[in-house]
Amino acid sequence: MCGIVGYVGKEQAAPILLDGLSKLEYRGYDSAGIAVARGAQIEVVKAKGRLQVLDDMTDSGHAVPGTCGIGHTRWATHGEPSTPNAHPHYNTDKSIAVVHNGIIENYAEIKEFLQKRGYSFLSQTDTETVTGLLEFYYRENGGDPLDAIVKMMNRVRGAYALGILFADEPDTVYAVRKDSPLIVGRSGSGALIASDVPAILKYTRDVYYIDNLEIARLTENEIRFFNIDREEITKESTHIDWDAEAAERGGYEHFMIKEIHEEPRAVRDTLGSCIREDGSKLCLDMAACGITEEVIRKTDRICIVACGSAYHVGMVAKYVIEDLSRIPVDVDLASEFRYRRPILSPDTLVIIISQSGETADSLAALREAKSHGNRVLGIVNVVGSTIAREADHVFYTLAGPEIAVATTKALSTQLAAVFLWAVHLGCVRGNLDEAEVQRLLRSLMALPDQIGRVLEDKERIQWFASKYSSMQDTFFIGRGADYAISMEGSLKLKEISYIHSEAYAAGELKHGTISLIEDGTLCVCILTQPELYEKMISNMVEVRSRGGYLMALTNVGNYNVENTAHFTVYIPRTDPHFTPVLSIVPLQLFAYYVSCARGLDVDKPRNLAKSVTVE
Ligand code: AGP
Repeated sequence: MCGIVGYVGKEQAAPILLDGLSKLEYRGYDSAGIAVARGAQIEVVKAKGRLQVLDDMTDSGHAVPGTCGIGHTRWATHGEPSTPNAHPHYNTDKSIAVVHNGIIENYAEIKEFLQKRGYSFLSQTDTETVTGLLEFYYRENGGDPLDAIVKMMNRVRGAYALGILFADEPDTVYAVRKDSPLIVGRSGSGALIASDVPAILKYTRDVYYIDNLEIARLTENEIRFFNIDREEITKESTHIDWDAEAAERGGYEHFMIKEIHEEPRAVRDTLGSCIREDGSKLCLDMAACGITEEVIRKTDRICIVACGSAYHVGMVAKYVIEDLSRIPVDVDLASEFRYRRPILSPDTLVIIISQSGETADSLAALREAKSHGNRVLGIVNVVGSTIAREADHVFYTLAGPEIAVATTKALSTQLAAVFLWAVHLGCVRGNLDEAEVQRLLRSLMALPDQIGRVLEDKERIQWFASKYSSMQDTFFIGRGADYAISMEGSLKLKEISYIHSEAYAAGELKHGTISLIEDGTLCVCILTQPELYEKMISNMVEVRSRGGYLMALTNVGNYNVENTAHFTVYIPRTDPHFTPVLSIVPLQLFAYYVSCARGLDVDKPRNLAKSVTVE
């Protein structure tokens, strides 16, 4: 989704704004722009297309003088990707400029209100209604920016993070938010705003999270915060542990392949945050989240809510948690959960899984659950994100910053997190004895090295991917947790290679979809669950008999699969509950190499955004 940056200080603003925007490119965008205060007016430069266009137009920002400005990468919602629709938007006399991430839901009504008062619009965006309202209130109150901002906030409905410049205060950046992320930081030379940490990591590691309906006022020497009643408030900063290199490509061609290679480290850190050695014993300690054993014993059901890949983690979690703890688990897409009036008993634990911690639907689902009085656990990667702050309990995955739009290492750490919770819940519910717990914990601790071994097979997968990179349709099939991983493998391929792909529970294929199998149609078959192995072989034979070309993904030792499959990838043996964190790796590699072979923009696939902060 849209990215926002802002700077005010001693240095020239435009190069800093462009540099910050380049760190937000991963969020997905179709146009970009900057606005810099300059005397009685504000200079706006914007363009459709990649940031490079803006860079070329401004000589990397050096051609735009001024030390106070805002910048934006736009992911179109209202109005096509075009230069007029790109942000910043300014008012009629260019004395106010605005950048926005989110959606103003009542924009049509505000537009009519402003048009009746003679305001004319230059773009098709909802954002321009904010600019118009600011001008309207600013004129009405005789030039008080804070008052105009508060009145605008009281008038608009929807989600917004805004960066605002007033030409009358050419050394001040205003920032406000409701439901869309925005952070503030101080550098040696001034102060900054951004949608996300990587944009300002080069300048500071101490950030302030602006909360809903709060306003920040930044000048070179001072950052002040206000609530919507215009009362000044104090805020604590949060220290970010990542270093700037963590958000760089570090010699890899793409962030995605770098992040796949970081999976052993990310999973090891996440597991290591809760498992420690005590002599010859392993101990699992989940107390940091604050969910007591008494609460777990009373829990009648778990409801997991998430979007996209995080939802697939929820699907895996259902199989694993139900099996190890015997607590019933429901899994819901957040966009469905939030509007279907869910039936939740007081002892149902709601788990929201989200890498960014800012996904609009997941956040709304969290609020829906809390409005029912339910306890919410967030499994989140980004420290201090809105979901992390609003959940009753937080489990942080330790993936570090994930930049590629297609999630890889964050998903692996989410899987590690749900495995830890499954063992913990099974233990507290008396469903697992000590010997079983020890065996499971040892299997978990072996996973990082096993992921490393899967990565050693990447050349074979690259060869296979280049052979199949021009295919039209693909199918992914599996049973149990392998079905969930089929869904994720299929999504990965779709999002970065643009190849049509469908995932099916293997037993379901013959109820209609098998009619799509033709000579040479690739079907990726995942069979890591011993109890379902033979059933899977039967389903694979059904596809092969109709001309399908089979790629199998199974455990080392299952060599007779080669009697049925045309090409096989093996993963190391582990406890069957934990195979998803191994089996997903070849599928991530496969999608990556297909995308590379097709010459596509792997890290920034078309139409997609890293953090989906609108409905
Ligand atoms: C997966 O590769 C996608 N980027 C997407 O499905 C993502 O998992 C989904 O949007 C949820 O994001 P979140 O984990 O940040 O909430």
